Amino acid sequence: MPRTLVNTEGRHARTSIFGREIALPVVIAPTGVNGMLTRDADLKLARAAARAGIPFTLSTVSNARPDTVAREAGGRLWMQLYWFRDPAIAADVVRRADAAGYEALVFTTDANVFGHREWDKRSYRGPGQLTLRSVLDVARHPRWIADVMLPRGLPRFVNVADFFPPEARSARAGVTRIPALFAPTIDWDDVARLRDTWKRKLLIKGVLDPADVERAARLGCDGVVLSNHGGRQLDACVAAIEVLPEIARAFGDRLTILVDGGIRRGSDIAKAVALGAHAVMVARATLYGVAAGGEDGASHALGILASELDRVLGQLGCRSVAELTPALLREGQPTPAGVSARV
Ligand SMILES: Cc1cc2nc3c(=O)[nH]c(=O)nc-3n(C[C@H](O)[C@H](O)[C@H](O)COP(=O)(O)O)c2cc1C
Repeated sequence: MPRTLVNTEGRHARTSIFGREIALPVVIAPTGVNGMLTRDADLKLARAAARAGIPFTLSTVSNARPDTVAREAGGRLWMQLYWFRDPAIAADVVRRADAAGYEALVFTTDANVFGHREWDKRSYRGPGQLTLRSVLDVARHPRWIADVMLPRGLPRFVNVADFFPPEARSARAGVTRIPALFAPTIDWDDVARLRDTWKRKLLIKGVLDPADVERAARLGCDGVVLSNHGGRQLDACVAAIEVLPEIARAFGDRLTILVDGGIRRGSDIAKAVALGAHAVMVARATLYGVAAGGEDGASHALGILASELDRVLGQLGCRSVAELTPALLREGQPTPAGVSARV
């Protein structure tokens, strides 16, 4: 619901997170195996984030180590943590992120049991063995082969590979071997232990239930990322944006609230902030950019989001993101009976 005749000259999308300014309320979300999209994609995304003045989150299953990203990309860096059956992995990731000066640790808790990713599985005929169709698909992309495969072979899971059995160390094993290595045992005691060892900002990613947010706050977490992992885990899950208003109302003054899932437009960012998020995370939007155009592509994707958000702010009659409030939103109409939910 736009308000009209507001002078929005000089509007801006700046805000702050953990007491430091960010150029727009966006953080790049952690994604694993980025190196399969283009060589050194983790570095390219981190550099694009630094250039845009926003934080970048490095995945535990990245193809670059935290210290390499800190040294070669810089910027505000957050480290995502997956908990595998071997507890030495988490300890090592936390130690490396700490030594490299990472600002925040993002503990992803919705991958205790790995999602049944049928679209991934279709690419394989057996553990680690691509189908003929997938092999032909690779052969049809010589530029990708020259960029990714020829220089160093398939990207490795550099943070975790040394702890994995040999057959689970390269990206090819990502779908067929690694799911079984995730720890279904993780619980709130692990959060308490992490809180004791990690002294900087601690966020839990994959929280949706307000009772869980309450628990995270009581254990001393600094923030939560409301997320259903982009539908890649529990695919019939509630959407994070649906639980955002209630959680933001109850905890917005105690915790930093981020939300992700389907943020593809500047207007999506505006809606999330209006519903109470301090910022959003974006994963696929910048992955498409880096896959298509490397670091410049990732910057371009962020530039599109920034210019859309700027335009939406102006058209809504807002001079800053602080003016994005629930008063600007109207509930959608319920889907009329008989109309397919796909409409
Ligand atoms: C290819 C891919 C890899 C991902 N890897 C991770 C990961 O390593 N750790 C994590 O916490 N989330 C991971 N996610 C989930 C994202 O961080 C994010 O929660 C989800 O994609 C929703 O955001 P989006 O709609 O902007 O993509 C991954 C998502 C994608 C698409």
